Parts: sequence; structure tokens; C-alpha cells
Amino acid sequence: MQIVTTIEELRSIVKWWRGEGHSVGLVPTMGFLHEGHKSLIVKAVSENDRVVVSDFVNPTQFGANEDLSTYPRDIERDGALCEEAGADVIFHPAPEEMYFEDNCTFVDMNRLTKGLCGKTRPTHFCGVCTVVSKLFNIVTPDRAYFGQKDAQQLAVIRRMVRDMNFNIEIVGCPIVREEDGLAMSSRNTYLSEKERKAALILHKSLTLGEELIQSGEKDAAKVRDAILKNMRTEPLARVDYVEIVDAENLEPVKRIEKPILAATAVYIGKTRLIDNFSCDPRN
Ligand code: PAJ
Repeated sequence: MQIVTTIEELRSIVKWWRGEGHSVGLVPTMGFLHEGHKSLIVKAVSENDRVVVSDFVNPTQFGANEDLSTYPRDIERDGALCEEAGADVIFHPAPEEMYFEDNCTFVDMNRLTKGLCGKTRPTHFCGVCTVVSKLFNIVTPDRAYFGQKDAQQLAVIRRMVRDMNFNIEIVGCPIVREEDGLAMSSRNTYLSEKERKAALILHKSLTLGEELIQSGEKDAAKVRDAILKNMRTEPLARVDYVEIVDAENLEPVKRIEKPILAATAVYIGKTRLIDNFSCDPRN
């Protein structure tokens, strides 16, 4: 496995692979990899001849008061995990390699990105769409892999690929959790021992909502209220949002009759965590 830092070198490797007739998978990440990322890489390896994992803390998706400078980084450990998972290349560019100093072109959308995480992070998805478009243009993969953990991001990327005619199959992958239910995240490293325990409230409360839906509840407000009420039993948790939305267009729903996404963002101390479940009440 190779660590590549320049766009030029990565392009020449992909060109070589294409000449050999190989298919190419891409797993975009911001590094500090864990088992959640690994599950995406393993799936990509099983479905493509060659796999690129990008490992880049993308500055344009962080807001002014967010954690760009403190975001955890460990390229050596990431290298070992990628090697173990069977990736062929890690693309690990410097910010200057990805963005010209006078960069002024962005990819944005005016739906799907306003609600949920877009409310508190209004510039986030523009940064995500921009960097993912750039990675798509650099790697030109056949398939790209994204986690359901970031459900809004996955829906946004699917819409961007549709609207911009990227000839790339987007593969969504299930959420990987710790044994006690906490969704794996690079940001979990910010949590103190006490906060780590408190963070379980996200999954516990969502599970309660999921059970309500499974028992036949169709009123979205009732499910949302039950989730919220349970979240509020945890003194260290400050809820940013709990929303029940249409799984495809991310618009809030009143009745749970089509596939929905129930998503939440909660501050545990200073750390903002997200989690979700999706379900199709018709099944
Ligand atoms: P990052 O947070 O590093 O996540 C990279 C990918 O791993 C995303 O598709 C995310 O949904 C997935 N992932 C993270 N935790 C997961 C878990 N517990 N289970 C399953 N999948 C999980 O998302 C980003 O980076 C960036 O926004 C990026 C798309 C790379 C653009 O910069």
C-alpha cells in the first residue's frame, strides 16, 4: 500500500490501473480511522479491483468556531488500518495541494442542506460537496462509499451525483457501533469518561423512537417528543435537534408512512455528536 500526497501522482496511478482494465473504488475520509471507516474500506475492496482511501481534514467544511485545528490526526495508524483492510493507496494531500490560495469555486445546493445539521452548520455541506466533487474528479472512481452514520451527508452526495451527472455509483454502508451502542466517530476521542457514558443517551433515545414506530405509531410528533423527552433525562446532554424527515428529500414529515430518517445532534459537554436510524414503516 502506498501513501500518495500529490494529485499528479494519484492521477498517474489511476491511469495505470485503468490501462490494466481495473475498476476503482473510493472511500473519502478525514482520517483518524476506526472500525466504521474500516467497514467502508472492506466493502470497497470486496467490490473493486483497486481502492483509494482519501485521508484529508477538509478545511472548507469546518465553520469558523469549529474544531478544524484540534480535529484528531494520526496518518501512521491510518496507514496500518488501510493496509489491513486491503486498500491500495491512501491519498493524503496537504491543504495547499487541494486548494489554491485564491480558490473561488464551490459546489453547493439549495435543498437538503438547510435543515438538520445545516441549521447549526450553514456552510458545512458546501465544503463537503466541494471536496467530494474534487476527489471524484481526481480519482474518477466507479464507486464511492459513504456511511449511513452521516445520513444527511449521504443524501446530499446522492443528490449531487444525480444533479451533476457524476458517473459514479454511491454505496451507502450501515452504522458501525461500539458494543454499548455508541456510534463510532473520530470525535468520540474528545469525550471524558463521564461524557462517554452520557453519550449513550443518543442511541438509547433513538432506539426508543424506533420501537415506537415498530409498534405502529404513525404520528411523527409523538415519536420525536418521546425521543426528546428521553434525551433530556441526561444532564450532560444538550440537544441541538431531533427531527423525523423523509428519507430521500429530508423534508420534515407529519405522518410516518414512507421511508423516514430520524436524526439527532446532541452536545455532550463541548462535543457535538450525531446519530440516526432510518426505517420503512411499510416493511
Ligand atoms: P469522516 O467523518 O472521516 O467519515 C468518512 C466516512 O466514514 C463517511 O462516509 C462517514 O459516514 C463514515 N463513517 C464514520 N463513522 C462511521 C460509523 N460509525 N459507521 C459507518 N460509517 C461511518 O464524512 C467525512 O469524513 C467527510 O465529510 C468527507 C465525506 C470525507 C468529506 O470531507
